[in-house]
Formats: sequence, C-alpha cells, structure tokens
Amino acid sequence: MAIETVGVIGCGLMGSGITQVCAQAGYRTVVREASEELVSGGIGRIDGVLSRDVSKGKMTADEKAAVLGRITGTTEFDDLAACDLVIEAVTENLETKQEVFRVLDGIAPPDAILASNTSSISITELASATNRPEQVVGLHFFNPVPVMGLIEMVIGLQTSEKTVEAARQFGESLGKQVIEAKDTPGFIVNYLLIPYLLDAVRLVESGVATKEDIDAGMVLGCSHPLGPLKLLDFIGLDTTLYIAEVLYDAFRTDRYAAPPLLRQMVAAGMNGRKSGRGFYDYG
Ligand code: CAA
Repeated sequence: MAIETVGVIGCGLMGSGITQVCAQAGYRTVVREASEELVSGGIGRIDGVLSRDVSKGKMTADEKAAVLGRITGTTEFDDLAACDLVIEAVTENLETKQEVFRVLDGIAPPDAILASNTSSISITELASATNRPEQVVGLHFFNPVPVMGLIEMVIGLQTSEKTVEAARQFGESLGKQVIEAKDTPGFIVNYLLIPYLLDAVRLVESGVATKEDIDAGMVLGCSHPLGPLKLLDFIGLDTTLYIAEVLYDAFRTDRYAAPPLLRQMVAAGMNGRKSGRGFYDYG
C-alpha cells in the first residue's frame, strides 16, 4: 500500500522526533497532542533541531521551511482521518495506549496501519483494543530519533504479512535499519539493555565502583557512546523502572528485578536529565 500521510499521536521527545523524520522523508505528517501548548512546544522543538541543522550547513533554510510545511499540529483526533499510517507515541501506559488505539480504530481509514512506538508493552494487547489487529504493528524508535539509525519492528500475534512488509518499507524510507522481533516483553533491545542497566545500578549500590569508573569502563573498554549510568539518565530512571517492571512481571526472574536504589531515586524525583538530576547533576 502507498503511505502518503502519516499521523503521530504525541509530540513529546519521541513523538516530535518521529514527526520530524517523517516530514524530512517527504511524508505529510499530522501530529496530535492534548493541548495547543503541547502542540506548539513539540513543533517548537522540531524547529530548534532543524535550525541547528541549518546553522551547521546540513540543511538549507528553504529545506527546513519545506519540512515544517509538511507538518500539521492538531489537538483533534478527527484530523487523522486521512492518514495511511498512524504512529502512537504517548505515555508508556497500557490503558492510555489502548484508549488511543480504540479511538484511532474509529477514525483512521479501514486500510490504515496503526503502529505503536512502545518500548515494552505487548503489541498484541494494544491490537486487541481495535477491530483490525492484523493492521497493528510495533515501530520502536530510539532517542534521539533523528540521530539513531534503528527501528525495532514488533510483530503481534495477529499482525499480517502485508502490514509487516508495508511497515518495513516505511521504516526504510525514513533512512533507518529495520530489525524484526516477535511480540515478546522487551523485544530485542530492551530484553538485553535493561538487565545491563540494572546491573550497573547494583554495582553502584554495592559500592564496588564509582559511577564515573563504571561509565568509563564501558565507554573506553567497550566503545559504548555512553556508560550505563549516563545512559540511564538519558533514557530516564522512571522509564527504565517502568520497563524493568513490565519485564519482571512477564518473566519473574531476578535478571529484571529493579534494585532498591533505582526505586529510591525515582521516588525522590531523580529521573535523570529531564529532571535535572539522576546519577549525575544537570543543574
Ligand atoms: N535531536 C537531533 N539531533 C541530535 C540530538 C537530538 N535530540 N541530540 C544530538 N543530536 C545530534 C547533534 O546535532 C550532533 O549532530 P552532528 O554530528 O551532525 O553535529 C550529533 O547528534 C552528536 O551530538 P553531540 O555532538 O551534541 O553529542 P554526542 O556526541 O554526545 O552525541 C548522542 C549525542 C547521539 C545522543 C550520543 O550521546 C549517543 O549516541 N547517546 C546514546 C543514545 C542511545 O543509546 N539512545 C538509545 C536509548 S534507548 C531508547 O531510546 C529506547 C528505549 O526503549 C529505552
């Protein structure tokens, strides 16, 4: 099927990044947020990223204007009625996401694909909120979306081959490599990443090493761009705890058990970069 118009639900960090890369790839993109302030904040973030690209000479001012011209912000779900593909990027919460899928199912054209950017929630469970489970798929982007070259495509129990193929072609048209995972908790990346991050917290907690040395160990010893504790601050400690709990609920193994220090830091609001403080201070 031909995808020409893309809808994005949510214009936060992930939703704005997804909106930007879709518009940059030439798609008309309609992004929906809950309030005018959130719409203008999200589009303002995209404007800022594109302006940096213009100042670095990676894009001309005309190209930036064309990208922004392909983006329509709205607070109305009804404005998504002409979308061929809608990507949901709202808060990581099963009920919230299922409600979005229920609404989208009633609005999007019958042959439209409904995708979720979830990092941990079952695509099959999201699909169950719709009458088109064969047209529901996971498209998990990575932060920062314009920089990270990966989309993890998650195939629900009922996702059709046709949907998988269309979603793969769409992901590749954004210039991303698309990897494929069955609908299992954590998919590929978080199945591997979350226990690693939790182990780094356990090392801090047990006083084995300083956060700086743990991070230097993985940056210099394994060529990771960020050490695990800086990465935790980047992803968000609250987000990491949420994903760890989904995985723990599913697998019931110590591998995914959140260490007390992580819970305490989240309780204290030390959620990482976004809150100004996590393992490091962003004052
Ligand atoms: N939006 C767009 N572009 C951005 C950006 C953003 N938010 N942040 C950085 N960039 C761009 C910069 O403009 C710069 O571009 P140029 O090379 O063209 O100049 C480039 O990225 C590098 O940025 P910086 O030089 O400022 O900083 P850096 O070298 O420290 O790189 C980084 C920043 C790319 C974010 C790097 O720190 C990195 O790779 N971090 C790891 C990110 C990561 O692991 N993400 C995955 C998290 S897991 C996840 O998202 C999924 C989940 O389910 C938990």
